Parts: sequence; C-alpha cells; structure tokens
Amino acid sequence: MFYLLFLACSTITTGHTLNTVYSWKQVEFKFPNDTVRNEYKASGNYIPENNVPLGLAIWHNKMFVTVPRWKKGVLATLNSFSMSDDEHSPVLTPYPDLEANNISSPDSLVNIFRVRIDACDRMWGLDTGVNDILGDLEVVRPMRLIVIDLKMNKILRQYTLKDTDIKPESFIADLVVDVPPGQCDKAYAYMSDLTEYGLVVYSWEKNDSWRINHHFFHFDPLNGNPLLAGDYSISGYNFQWTDGVFGMSLSPIYANGSRILYFHSMSGITEFSVPADILQDNESKKSEIYNNFHIVGTKGPLTQGPSSIIDPETCINYFTQVNRNGIACWDMTVELNPETFKLVAQDNTTLVFPQDIAIDNESRKLYVLSNNLQKFMQGSFDPLTTNFFITSIDLETLTFLCRCNAAY
Ligand SMILES: *[C@@H]1O[C@H](CO)[C@@H](O)[C@H](O)[C@H]1NC(C)=O
Ligand SMILES: *[C@@H]1O[C@H](CO)[C@@H](O)[C@H](O)[C@H]1NC(C)=O
Ligand SMILES: *[C@@H]1O[C@H](CO)[C@@H](O)[C@H](O)[C@H]1NC(C)=O
Ligand SMILES: *[C@@H]1O[C@H](CO)[C@@H](O)[C@H](O)[C@H]1NC(C)=O
Ligand SMILES: *[C@@H]1O[C@H](CO)[C@@H](O)[C@H](O)[C@H]1NC(C)=O
Ligand SMILES: *[C@@H]1O[C@H](CO)[C@@H](O)[C@H](O)[C@H]1NC(C)=O
Ligand SMILES: *[C@@H]1O[C@H](CO)[C@@H](O)[C@H](O)[C@H]1NC(C)=O
Repeated sequence: MFYLLFLACSTITTGHTLNTVYSWKQVEFKFPNDTVRNEYKASGNYIPENNVPLGLAIWHNKMFVTVPRWKKGVLATLNSFSMSDDEHSPVLTPYPDLEANNISSPDSLVNIFRVRIDACDRMWGLDTGVNDILGDLEVVRPMRLIVIDLKMNKILRQYTLKDTDIKPESFIADLVVDVPPGQCDKAYAYMSDLTEYGLVVYSWEKNDSWRINHHFFHFDPLNGNPLLAGDYSISGYNFQWTDGVFGMSLSPIYANGSRILYFHSMSGITEFSVPADILQDNESKKSEIYNNFHIVGTKGPLTQGPSSIIDPETCINYFTQVNRNGIACWDMTVELNPETFKLVAQDNTTLVFPQDIAIDNESRKLYVLSNNLQKFMQGSFDPLTTNFFITSIDLETLTFLCRCNAAY
C-alpha cells in the first residue's frame, strides 16, 4: 500500500528528483600556499583520505561543511565554500580560518559534527574535543559549545560543558538552537548526548548549562521488526549501533506561544516530543516529571536516522533515513504513523548514509549531505569513486510529495 502511494506520487512529479549539486571523490582544502600544505602533510596533521564531510549548514549563499576527526589527519573540522562559485567539487576553506582549526594550536576547534545557524547570524556547534575516534582516541580538549558570529567571522563564545552536564562516555553530535523572535540574548541550545542518553541545555543569557535525563533518550532494542532498531544494513554493510537520542527538530512557535522539541534515537523508530519550556526551566525541575515528555508516534520498520528538520512554513518534518538510502517526511498536522511517515526520496548512489539535512531559507530548498560512512568505518573507501554527495530539491516539490494522497 505504502509503496503504491509512493509510486503514484512519483509518477505525477516525474522530473522532480533530488539533484546532485556537489560531489567529491575526496575533499580538497584551500591552503595559503604549498609550503603550509607540505608542512601539514609532513607533520601528519593532514592525511587527505581521512577527511570525510558530515555536517551541513547554509547562510546567505555560503555553505558550511563539518569534517569530524574520526581518524588522524583531518585538516579542519569546520569549513565553508561559496555557493555562487560554479564548482561541482568545491575546495573547502577552513572556517573561520586555518589557524583556528590547527589542532596543535592552544585554543583551536577540534571536532565538530554538526552546526546550526540561528536567526541572529550566529553558528552554533558542539566541539567534542576528541581526535582519532576510530583509532587511538585522544582527548585534546573538554567538550565546548562554540558560537560564531557569521558577519564578523569571529568566535563569540567557547563554553566548556560542566562536569554535571556529561557522563564518562558522553558524546554529543547534534544540537538545535531556540531563539525567540528578535531576542537574540534569550537563546537556548539543546544538545543530544547519544551515548549516555541525555540532553544538555545551554542558556545564552545565563551562560549556564544543565543536563536532562529521560527514558525516551535511550535506544530501542526491540521495535522495528523485521530488523532490530539497532541493526543497520546499508548497501551491503551490516553493523549494530546503540546510539540513543540524536535527531532533534524544533517546531515553529505555536499560537499558545510555545515551541515543541521533537526528538528520536538514532537506533529507534519512535518519535517523541517535549515542550521547550520544560527544557528551559532549571529551577523547578519540570523535566523530572516523566509525563512532560510525550510519545508522538511510530515511523515503521527501517526508519532509523540521525538528522531531522522542520520546515516552519509548512510544518513538514524531514528525516534522513540511513537504512533506506533516502529522505522521509511527516506532515505534522496529521497523526504520525507508518502510513503518514513517507519516503519522499531514495537513491542508492547519491543518498547512501544521508547524514545531515538543511533548509536554505532564501531559495526554499532542502539540502542533504550523504557520505557513505559505512565504507569508511570498514576502512574500504575507494578514492577513485564519488563518495560524498550534496543533493537538493525545492521544498515546494517535497511539500507536494509529502502531502499527496495523504490518508486524511
Ligand atoms: C605561506 O603562508 C604562510 C601563512 O600565511 C606565510 O607565513 C608564509 O610566508 C607563506 N610562505 C610563502 C613561501 O609564501
Ligand atoms: C599549528 O600550531 C602549532 C602550535 O601553535 C604551530 O607550531 C604550527 O606551526 C601550526 N601549524 C601550522 C601549519 O601553522
Ligand atoms: C528564515 O526566513 C524567515 C523569513 O523569511 C526569517 O524570519 C527567519 O529568521 C529566517 N531564519 C533563519 C534561520 O535565518
Ligand atoms: C561563561 O561562563 C564561563 C564559565 O563557565 C566563563 O569562563 C565565561 O567567561 C562566561 N562567558 C560569558 C560571556 O560570561
Ligand atoms: C501549544 O500548542 C501546541 C500545538 O497545538 C501543542 O502541541 C502544545 O501542547 C501546546 N502547549 C501548551 C503548553 O498548551
Ligand atoms: C539555574 O540557573 C541559575 C542561573 O544560571 C543558577 O543561578 C541556579 O543555581 C540554577 N538552578 C539550579 C537548580 O541549578
Ligand atoms: C535501492 O536499494 C534498496 C535496498 O537497500 C532496494 O530495496 C531498492 O529496490 C533499491 N532501489 C533501486 C532503484 O535500485
């Protein structure tokens, strides 16, 4: 039934598929000159094949791409390129500059997985501080929340998470930023701890942070038959992950003045929610009341994925689907169930391990970064084939696909 509906929609919209906008066999970086390039290579601080893009953000025709330090030799964890240049495989420019990304310099950025941009021209990212995750894991610096002024290209804040925010095995890769309209100082960041199953909340105004725990932050070992939710099968590679709370998306402000944070575990197929004001409260401990967190619905088999984002104009929530090489959507005005959770795009070449998703406000397009991570984890990247893709589609088409033949 589900696939019939999907096919019917596809037929109507023939020609409106996801377009590959950028792709790389291996990413290249911009260096001041060859002397510097050779210096980085000689010191082992630049090993080209270990640079795998993962996170994505867009601000005024500038695209930001993160490169996590999974292995040694990542040149820069934060990079940008201009979307105005007509390049199919753009060279990455370290952001804000190369020195700020030099892992040997005292205060540098180390390892950021995803960044999010707020309405106040600020980019937020959680720096995990660790190098060579898949090899000889090295803690270079404590976990810090980094906030950058995009107009000045300047780091505004580096906030070290408190000991009470994290646990011994904590790992934070995703975050969302909540800013009330016109009140940049009242911003909050919600960061998901996927390995110790919690949320860390940071208040810009208080310059303080706190941790929130809940059962819903855990991974789901049982649901998702025929495959277990922790079991992945991606283009022939099989592995098991126990990642908990990961993909978060923030609703627009509803008529009653509140926003809702939607979240799910990476290894899970259920979507949950919590009103943002529950997270923002650090005094009366509302987050300790179990029933302040809600089950939104279940998405069906093979719907695991790391990132999601809500289009505030349509209230459609988009999700990366790692077990299905695609993008799914849910029109939030209808109940969430496996029939209303729809696969709107699938591609076994350009959408393998879709990692991150971003909406470009200006062009009204959705962008997806896919990186074939399953190959990298098995150590079998082929630098001669195209491994990394940034694809896009206009939101108008997606909205139509997501709503067409809807069962309501
Ligand atoms: C290369 O760039 C670095 C950093 O900008 C600079 O210090 C150095 O003088 C340059 N070297 C050459 C040979 O241009
Ligand atoms: C990186 O930082 C270290 C420490 O400050 C410095 O010695 C080194 O020259 C820097 N590397 C480059 C290539 O600039
Ligand atoms: C997106 O655009 C809307 C208006 O078109 C604006 O209000 C909003 O702040 C923008 N969001 C971001 C993150 O820039
Ligand atoms: C925020 O708090 C940290 C200590 O946790 C402090 O080092 C930093 O200076 C503070 N920043 C601001 C802007 O107050
Ligand atoms: C505010 O409205 C949203 C959307 O209708 C709803 O989900 C939420 O529960 C409401 N919050 C409060 C505090 O009433
Ligand atoms: C809540 O945050 C305020 C401001 O950072 C702080 O003074 C207070 O101690 C916090 N309360 C609790 C219960 O942590
Ligand atoms: C893509 O791969 C999935 C299995 O991973 C398969 O079910 C689907 O039919 C494939 N699609 C195409 C167009 O080959």
